[in-house]
Amino acid sequence: MWKQETELKQTLARIISNEKVTYNTHLIWLDAAEIASSAQPGQFVSIRCENLLLRRPFSINQVNSTHLAILIKIIGEGTRWLASQRKGQRLDILGPLGHGFAIEPSARNLLLVSGGIGIAPLIFLAQRAYQQHSITLIYGASTSAELCPFSAPQPNMPKNFTPSPGETRIILVTEDGSAGEKGTATSILSPFINWADQIFACGPAAMYLAMSNIPIDGLKRSTCQVSLETIMGCGIGACYGCTINTRKGPKKICHDGPVFQMGDILWQEMKI
Ligand SMILES: Cc1cc2nc3c(=O)[nH]c(=O)nc-3n(C[C@H](O)[C@H](O)[C@H](O)COP(=O)(O)OP(=O)(O)OC[C@H]3O[C@@H](n4cnc5c(N)ncnc54)[C@H](O)[C@@H]3O)c2cc1C
Ligand code: FES
Repeated sequence: MWKQETELKQTLARIISNEKVTYNTHLIWLDAAEIASSAQPGQFVSIRCENLLLRRPFSINQVNSTHLAILIKIIGEGTRWLASQRKGQRLDILGPLGHGFAIEPSARNLLLVSGGIGIAPLIFLAQRAYQQHSITLIYGASTSAELCPFSAPQPNMPKNFTPSPGETRIILVTEDGSAGEKGTATSILSPFINWADQIFACGPAAMYLAMSNIPIDGLKRSTCQVSLETIMGCGIGACYGCTINTRKGPKKICHDGPVFQMGDILWQEMKI
C-alpha cells in the first residue's frame, strides 16, 4: 500500500516535547521534517545516545506534518539518557530505516496485535489506515501500569492517535487482569482471526512464538506481518549483525525488515 523505498536522512532534530506517559515510558516528539515526510508505518529511526558507540533503534510511533514521535521504554543506558533529554535539546537521528508494514489493496479488516512497547509502530499504522479500514487493536501488557494511554499529552501539538468510534476497536488485555481482559494478546486472539483480512503484530519474542503455535488453519500466516526486534550494530544493512535465516534465505532485520511475513520466519531458530 505504501511506497517503501525512502531516502535516508540524518538530522539534528529538536525535541518539541518529552512526556512521561507511564512509570517507565516516554513519548518524545521531534521536529524532523525530512524524516517525517517520507516515514512509513513500521519503519524506524536510529538515535545517537550521548557517548554510546551504537545508535539505538526506535519505531516511528506517530507522524504529524513535520514532526515525528517515538515512544521509549527505559531499559538501559541509552533509553535512560533519551528519557532525560529536555524540550529544545537536539537529537542526532537517522531515518527512516527499514521496510515497514504493507497493507494489501483488497484488505478491509485489519487486526493489530501488540505486546508491551510493541504498541509503538502499530499506532502509526492505525493512524494511517483507520480512515480506509476497519481496525481492531489488541493491546496487551503485563499490568495496567505498563499500558500507555492513548491520549498522551503533547504540548503544542494537534491531537494524537484518536481512533474514530466504530472504525477502530481497542481491546486491552493484561496478564494480571488489572485492566481490560485477563490474559495475553495472543490468548484472546482466536475469535478475531477469521474477521481479519490482515494481521500486523509487534511485541516480544514470546508473543510471536505463541502466535506461531496457533494452528495453521486458524492463523493465515500469509496474511500476518510481524515486526522483529534485535540488538542492532549499524542499523543500515552494512554490518550483517542482525542477519537471520528465513524461508527466503538470510535476511537483515534492519534492512529487509524489521517487518516480515510471519510465515517466512524460522521460529525455532529465532533468538530474538
Ligand atoms: C526495529 C526496532 C524498533 C524498536 N522500537 C522501539 C520502540 O519503539 N520503543 C522502545 O522503547 N524500544 C524499541 N526498540 C528497542 C530499543 O532499541 C532498545 O530498547 C534500546 O536500544 C535499548 O537501549 P539501551 O541503551 O537503553 O539498553 P542497553 O543498555 O543497550 O540494553 C539493556 C538490556 O536490554 C537488552 N536489549 C537491548 N536492546 C534490545 C533489543 N532490541 N531486543 C532485546 N533485548 C535488547 C540488552 O541486551 C541488555 O540486557 C526497538 C528495537 C528495534 C530493533
Ligand atoms: S544492524 Fe548492521 S546489518 Fe543490520
